[in-house]
Amino acid sequence: MNTVEVADKKFELLIENDNINKRTRLIGIQMNVDYENRCPVFIGVLNGSFLFMADLLKEIEIPCEVGFIRVSSYKGTASTGTVRETFGLPDTLKDRDVILVEDIVDTGFTLKYILEKVHLQQPASVRVCTLLYKPDAIQTQIDELEYVGFEIPNEFVVGYGLDYNGLGRNLKDIYKAIP
Ligand code: IMP
Repeated sequence: MNTVEVADKKFELLIENDNINKRTRLIGIQMNVDYENRCPVFIGVLNGSFLFMADLLKEIEIPCEVGFIRVSSYKGTASTGTVRETFGLPDTLKDRDVILVEDIVDTGFTLKYILEKVHLQQPASVRVCTLLYKPDAIQTQIDELEYVGFEIPNEFVVGYGLDYNGLGRNLKDIYKAIP
């Protein structure tokens, strides 16, 4: 399928599932090397990261823990969001190696906010893994950004976890909006 309709909008194919899987496998291989003899805590940022988390974790062969966090919407405001809920995280991240997993880094504000909260718990290290990154949209420097699946143009995308008005998360491939 080269185009899809989600709600009132048309989208065209940007990244096929096969390519997502190939890239994810490479990131996983790199992490297995980088975190050898450690036991990192993977934290997926909900909702968008759920498919990427699942596929990435299948490539991880070292011991690890897995949890999720959810932040409230911040969009359209300059104010910070709040970490609303956490699921399955250890009681503390102190002295742990944390890997935050995001679906997409756009302006970077969400991530910046989450990173502040994580650093408060004094982890041993924090790195970010994002499937998608829009270099032209970023508005804040994220030093922890270590693993990037794909750099994409500054256009709205949907599929593979990412939504448009709550819809489209279940699409296997990633699509970009047709203007
Ligand atoms: P940021 O705080 O601007 O970096 O935005 C991060 C969040 O905004 C992501 O976790 C997504 O939930 C959402 N987002 C940003 N760009 C897109 C997009 O192109 N499609 C779908 N969601 C997006």
